[in-house]
Amino acid sequence: MIKKLSIDERFEILKNVNSYRREYEGKLQPMERLRPDRPATFISIGGGELGDLAITAAKRHYGGINGGIKTVAFDRYHGFPAQDSADYYEVFNMMDGDMLEKYIKKYVPNPNDPHAIYLEVEMIDTERTFKLSMEEGYKVMSTPYGPLICMDRHATKIMFNMLGLERVEWAYANSEEELLRVAKDMGLPVIIKPVMTSSGHGTSIVMRESDLINAYKYAKEHARGFGDEVIIEKFLPRLKSEGTEITQIVVRHFDEEGRIVNSFLPPIEHKRPAATYHESWLPSRIEPSIGKKCKEYAAKIAEFLGGIGIYAVEQFVIGDKVYNNEVANRPHDTGMITRWMLNMDEGALQLTSTLGLPIPSIEISRRAYGVAHVVLAPQWIKGEKKVLSFNVKKMGSIKNGDLWYFGKPTAYAGRRMGLAVAFNESLEVARIEAEKIAHLAESCIEYGD
Ligand SMILES: Nc1ncnc2c1ncn2[C@@H]1O[C@H](COP(=O)(O)OP(=O)(O)OP(=O)(O)O)[C@@H](O)[C@H]1O
Ligand SMILES: [Mg+2]
Repeated sequence: MIKKLSIDERFEILKNVNSYRREYEGKLQPMERLRPDRPATFISIGGGELGDLAITAAKRHYGGINGGIKTVAFDRYHGFPAQDSADYYEVFNMMDGDMLEKYIKKYVPNPNDPHAIYLEVEMIDTERTFKLSMEEGYKVMSTPYGPLICMDRHATKIMFNMLGLERVEWAYANSEEELLRVAKDMGLPVIIKPVMTSSGHGTSIVMRESDLINAYKYAKEHARGFGDEVIIEKFLPRLKSEGTEITQIVVRHFDEEGRIVNSFLPPIEHKRPAATYHESWLPSRIEPSIGKKCKEYAAKIAEFLGGIGIYAVEQFVIGDKVYNNEVANRPHDTGMITRWMLNMDEGALQLTSTLGLPIPSIEISRRAYGVAHVVLAPQWIKGEKKVLSFNVKKMGSIKNGDLWYFGKPTAYAGRRMGLAVAFNESLEVARIEAEKIAHLAESCIEYGD
């Protein structure tokens, strides 16, 4: 189990960010040449589709190990997506700090050797990677302390307050009584979330006072760390009916003068029928004035946290208001659409920026809307089932679109198995087509024992 931070510890980390940042950035350097005789090592801790996107970029853009970049991927199960694309891989429990340290040191024995460590997932021992980085000089990107803040909703909200950023009205509660009081003050509806989770686990929208206690229990049961604390937010019903959601990605990288600067990806728009990632597209339809706000907020966050690499800021847009929701210290699932729509995708940008290589100017490379839609394993699966086959004949050839099949060896209900993509001048048509490709792909995967 992960230890949850106490309120004092949260303030302590946030108070120290400035000095951590100065110390950490002082150790980073741009890379001047790629050398096959001494390749730089890129480790992806977590090798899902987002890890795969970064690992394959070493080959797509730089010629892989013979071009001067050696790739390594870790995950907790055999057959993970980045396993066969990485030059080396390890399978182990990444929550085990000793194992994590052992394998990082196996591939980067000397922290002064050129390398970058990408934390693709949150379910790892982030305290150990923090220690390895701050005490021994390992380069954990975007920063070693970022995950401690970004994984913890309470710490993230304090950061928003410190930076004076717009966010949803929020509070926290450590007991049923406190929750009842806070919810009453705030006014229903509210949304109750565990302090640490992702993909909507443990979250409930509460419309009636009589449902508050159950929502509190549910959040506690599904929380990633232990403890009694939950986060309460004012629920914005207009978000789904009139608003939209944006992921504003920022890349911190070295410029030609060797300074660390921020570059911005175009805002990615996404829709979620429920809590988890479902579809995203580029370009977004938000007004330029709103886009400017999204960027300004994201820039403040990236500038505050520092380091190099990608930050993904989740934002809610309703009318001309932008509310900052969450921050990821790494690439984001909604950003997978960048693989088809930008001259350099978010995986390649993570690899390139974190190794200290120069990045190109980031541009949309297609003159149409590109919509990505998740391909999910069916709800009827109980526990875990093997993937037996993928029927490519039934899938047929895709027109004005694409399919990225991840090749995961097993599935549980709702697991992400692939991503369908469609392109069209009309966003509405592209959304419908992407959904059709996704549903066809879902019907082509055969599961068994
Ligand atoms: N206060 C709110 N009002 C309205 N909708 C909300 C609110 N908070 C969250 N949501 C909806 O729920 C989604 C998931 O919320 P959030 O990002 O906080 O949770 P999560 O568990 O971290 O999910 P993920 O890991 O997929 O980002 C949001 O993208 C949004 O659609
Ligand atoms: Mg989120």
